[in-house]
Amino acid sequence: MYNDKVMDHFMNPRNVGVIENPSGVGEVGNVSCGDIMKIYLLIDDNDVIVDIKFKTFGCGSAIASSSIATVMIKGKTVSEALKLTNKDVLDELGGLPAVKIHCSVLAEQALKAAVLDYANKTGKHYPELDGFEPDDGHDDHGLVQIEF
Ligand code: FES
Repeated sequence: MYNDKVMDHFMNPRNVGVIENPSGVGEVGNVSCGDIMKIYLLIDDNDVIVDIKFKTFGCGSAIASSSIATVMIKGKTVSEALKLTNKDVLDELGGLPAVKIHCSVLAEQALKAAVLDYANKTGKHYPELDGFEPDDGHDDHGLVQIEF
């Protein structure tokens, strides 16, 4: 059901953790499964994402998706990173079962939420975020209150 790459990123996830004093933090949840993903970004003066960490309270596919997304994002500029789609995450993982596609969406959304936080703090504007609603998919019944 899961290929070796997915299993590797699930069993040995990269970039797990927290960044103290991050440039931006994003947290998103999925209403239907209740899974939550939080991404921390450290961005330098050149708009390069020099560090990224994540915490995922969720299924194995969500953990594998977050892990590979952080590997793909680290070292990119913010604008480059915002081009990352859940399809890119899926392709890099070598695919997920159809019922697990939404898990890769969580990674894309968490990144956007973290960049939006950064943009709000710095007054920067990223056209890629136009129309992005960070509360999309949030569970409004307390799940997003969980602190890792
Ligand atoms: Fe919800 Fe995977 S089952 S993120």
